[in-house]
Amino acid sequence: MTEKLKYKNIFLIGFMGAGKTTVGQVLAEKIGYRCVDPDQVLEEKAGSTISTIFSEYGEDYFRDLESKTLESISAGSGQVIATGGGVVIKDRNWDTMKEAGLTVYLKAPIEVLYERIKDSTHRPLLQVENPLERARELLENREHLYQKADLIIDSEKLSVTEVADELLKILNY
Ligand code: S3P
Repeated sequence: MTEKLKYKNIFLIGFMGAGKTTVGQVLAEKIGYRCVDPDQVLEEKAGSTISTIFSEYGEDYFRDLESKTLESISAGSGQVIATGGGVVIKDRNWDTMKEAGLTVYLKAPIEVLYERIKDSTHRPLLQVENPLERARELLENREHLYQKADLIIDSEKLSVTEVADELLKILNY
């Protein structure tokens, strides 16, 4: 079979609620890659949830595990990797991702993202008094980092399948 994609991995990046996991699953299916969720791998390995890791050991500890998990997954190939929203804050993670594949930012406005995440209880960063303000602030601080991606897809008005198709169109797949 001729190889249709020159990237050994595709990293989906973006804020919480951007649809990285759902798009990742559809995309992986279309191109015959595996969809991998580093947060899920991390939780399985740690035998603990991200919320518990945050509350017991703090965010820095989580970020370190996150980087190590990303590194170990990125050694593989044929994967769509649906990263956690905060992966972009470390240069180390960019080195890992740029070395191991293509980075794609799934972009959407905060109002749309917040609608999707407002009721979630498993995102420790949003367990605060004013989660919308917190989310807005986090996105503002991170936007310039997400923009470092190789490709940006504006996913606001697109369905999950349309986002995957749009990406494949850009890649001439
Ligand atoms: C985080 C996003 C989460 C998870 C953790 C921290 C972030 O992943 O990694 O709660 O810093 O934005 P999702 O983007 O999959 O929700």
